Amino acid sequence: MFKKLFITLFIALFFITGFSANASEEVNVYSYRQPFLVEPLFTQFTEQTGIKVNVVFAKEGMAERLAREGKYSPADILLTTDISRLIELRDKDLVQAVNSSVLSSAIPKQYQAQDNTWFALTTRVRNIYSAKRLGKIDINYEDLADEKYKGRVCTRSGKHPYTVALVASMISEHGETYTLDWLKKVKNNLARKPQGSDRAQVQAIHQNLCDISLGNSYYFGKMLKDDKQKVWADEVYINFPNQKNRGAHINISGVAMAKYAPNVKNAQALMEFLVSKPAQALYAQTNMEYPIREGVAVSKLVASWGSYKADALPLEDIAKNRKTALKLLDQAQFDL
Ligand SMILES: [Fe+2]
Repeated sequence: MFKKLFITLFIALFFITGFSANASEEVNVYSYRQPFLVEPLFTQFTEQTGIKVNVVFAKEGMAERLAREGKYSPADILLTTDISRLIELRDKDLVQAVNSSVLSSAIPKQYQAQDNTWFALTTRVRNIYSAKRLGKIDINYEDLADEKYKGRVCTRSGKHPYTVALVASMISEHGETYTLDWLKKVKNNLARKPQGSDRAQVQAIHQNLCDISLGNSYYFGKMLKDDKQKVWADEVYINFPNQKNRGAHINISGVAMAKYAPNVKNAQALMEFLVSKPAQALYAQTNMEYPIREGVAVSKLVASWGSYKADALPLEDIAKNRKTALKLLDQAQFDL
């Protein structure tokens, strides 16, 4: 009798402790960031902590999926590029605040949420690429509206988050009226309807379809390292805009903790790992982004483009203009 009870108790204890020990050693990630970039980071994290990382990779639909799953969602942390996606997750009440001195001290104030609901992990500049045939130029975003570039500007869609964020920053700087006028003039200068990726615009410069395009900084490195695309990149200069005034427009990749994260402690540990020096170095080397943490070197190639002045406005302030930016892009019929 006693023996039987003891065995039952033993089995019960084994399952309770055994199961909870395993469950506490994992963390679930929903990621818009690609496997080649984040898998080496997670491998290092698991080696250091013993915490297993389960990842769901996606290209879209993260907010919808989280909303559908509600409090039964297995997601602990959410990885994405672009401030607007992070703000969207917060606006839809899908994330929770993380109070971590490790995060708040490693990340400059302008690149983290005031309410601790999102944190930047890397930055990227919205550069202006210019054809070498123009010679060296000194350019501001405002100049994209200049008549001298009539029919010579190429860009991706006005609906893309990178464009929307830039337009939002123009509203922050100049207000709605100026920005709408600017958008109309930029549209007037376009060589073709907005289309394709940032890299496709540089290809168009190579094909002499245009002379000027907008593109994120890391794409310059990616093109230079690609056998086929190197000839495109060789045709352009990478310009850091607005260096004599407010500085270049910066966007981020970032992280947030899911509202119903089942593994809060492990999730915070992973978030803190992502701003550690080794993780930041991996971001810089693997994807040629700018590390968010000071004192971590950029890749050699990125360093060769020189240093730059960044717009000091907090991203949170820029993101407030996101809806207005979409409205103005619509009014300017930018994509039509
Ligand atoms: Fe990108």
